[in-house]
Amino acid sequence: MEEPRKVVTPPTDWRHDALSLHSGKVRDEKPLDLSTLIHQDAGTVRLVYVHPDLPDAVIKVVRPERVDGFGHFKDDKRLRFRRPLGMYRLFRRELHQYLELCRRGYGDRRSVFPMATPFGFLPTSEGLGLVTEKIKNESGAMGPSLKSLIRSGKVRAMHVAALNTLFDECIDLHLIIGDPNPGNMVYTEERSGRPEFVLVDGVGEKNLIPLRTLSWRYNRYKLKKAQRTLLAAIARANPGLPIAQPALA
Ligand SMILES: Nc1ncnc2c1ncn2[C@@H]1O[C@H](COP(=O)(O)OP(=O)(O)O)[C@@H](O)[C@H]1O
Ligand SMILES: [Mg+2]
Repeated sequence: MEEPRKVVTPPTDWRHDALSLHSGKVRDEKPLDLSTLIHQDAGTVRLVYVHPDLPDAVIKVVRPERVDGFGHFKDDKRLRFRRPLGMYRLFRRELHQYLELCRRGYGDRRSVFPMATPFGFLPTSEGLGLVTEKIKNESGAMGPSLKSLIRSGKVRAMHVAALNTLFDECIDLHLIIGDPNPGNMVYTEERSGRPEFVLVDGVGEKNLIPLRTLSWRYNRYKLKKAQRTLLAAIARANPGLPIAQPALA
């Protein structure tokens, strides 16, 4: 007699839902049509949309004008050997860093780090979207980046303290910030109940020779340098704010 088929109930937890594409279905026939949505933010490389079904997640796609029909960055054309992952190497770098942190945190079963938690991929009308945790402000919208706080002259002592804590944590965790651009750090008080900056982009090793991965000390040195550069930028924009520069060693 034939075995009855097992009924698999889809998980209801929103973090799991994020992995099961959109509309709560494990597999949707059509990619999500982004032309019906307005992106909430954008960097030089990616557009950021709020997930239509998951208010706690964002979808990131590479700006279509930055890539050719084969998914390679147009700027990469000069390179003789183009990288097989093309534009998706950005996604791989982020996932790689996250998985490395989870592996190191395995003993404590830790999966939350000072970077936005990646949830999965979502096929969209603009290619594969990376679905990640939305770093929120008090009303649930996307929080301000350090860049926007500096630009609007809104950096306060608590932001400086939160930034210093972020760098201390990255040093301890051996988290690599390959692109320490202030646009890649988003401020929130909603994630763990304390003021914090969370990395939403720019994490992971960029160099072909992974010196920062190989050496915790070298990574610490690079992080301290980046921290000093950011603190100097904050000090220039807010001359009244007391800011102590950390020692490099
Ligand atoms: N997960 C997120 N939560 C909240 N805001 C985000 C998130 N990801 C990106 N942003 C906002 O969108 C901007 C652009 O995103 P980013 O991933 O840095 O794009 P790019 O890869 O082009 O630099 C960021 O500066 C930030 O303000
Ligand atoms: Mg960025």
